[in-house]
Amino acid sequence: MKKSLILAGLALVAASVSALAAPDPSPSPVGDPKVASSEDGKYFDASGNPTYHIGPNDNVDWYTFSGYRRFNGACEVCHGFDGSGSSFAPDLTQSLKTMGYADFQNIVINGKQSVNTAESLVMPGFGTNKNVMCYLDDIYVYLRARADGAQGPGRPTSHEDKPAAATANENDCMGP
Ligand code: HEC
Repeated sequence: MKKSLILAGLALVAASVSALAAPDPSPSPVGDPKVASSEDGKYFDASGNPTYHIGPNDNVDWYTFSGYRRFNGACEVCHGFDGSGSSFAPDLTQSLKTMGYADFQNIVINGKQSVNTAESLVMPGFGTNKNVMCYLDDIYVYLRARADGAQGPGRPTSHEDKPAAATANENDCMGP
């Protein structure tokens, strides 16, 4: 009787210790943003992560332009126009210097909270918001370009035509 109580107690302690000690998943690497391949107007780095492409006369790829628009429809209320932050949400042009694609996706899908005595910051999860989920790569490449200083604040001056693949994916993702 006594022994089983102690064992139950130990199991509880072990469970809470392992929850506390759960290591942060190792950060996803940022990688070199240089274009290594492209498919239907979408550009990828050497790791296969989406990246931006800025051609002559600051002509940006479609996804960077689309990301600019989507970001300024869903994220700028907290993160400021062009991603440069506000008093209550971080400057993403800094965050994305060290945050890789996988971590970015995870935070936007699931949200993030830092609550302590000094601050209470809540990033909502957008996992069920199609206006964000269908354009997650677009928003990522835009912010990646911002973080690298390749795309300045403000609307890109010109952009590549919308690829047929972008229209097809959009229709699939947004549904009827
Ligand atoms: C309601 C306000 C709000 C909106 C809207 C919002 N965020 Fe956030 N976001 C935050 C806050 C606050 C944090 C900081 C959370 C923390 O530190 O725990 C944050 C953190 C983040 C981070 C992590 C930054 C870091 O340095 O750790 C990313 C990436 C991010 N947001 C992307 C986005 C994107 C993309 C959108 C639009 C789809 C968006 N956010 C919309 C409030 C918001």
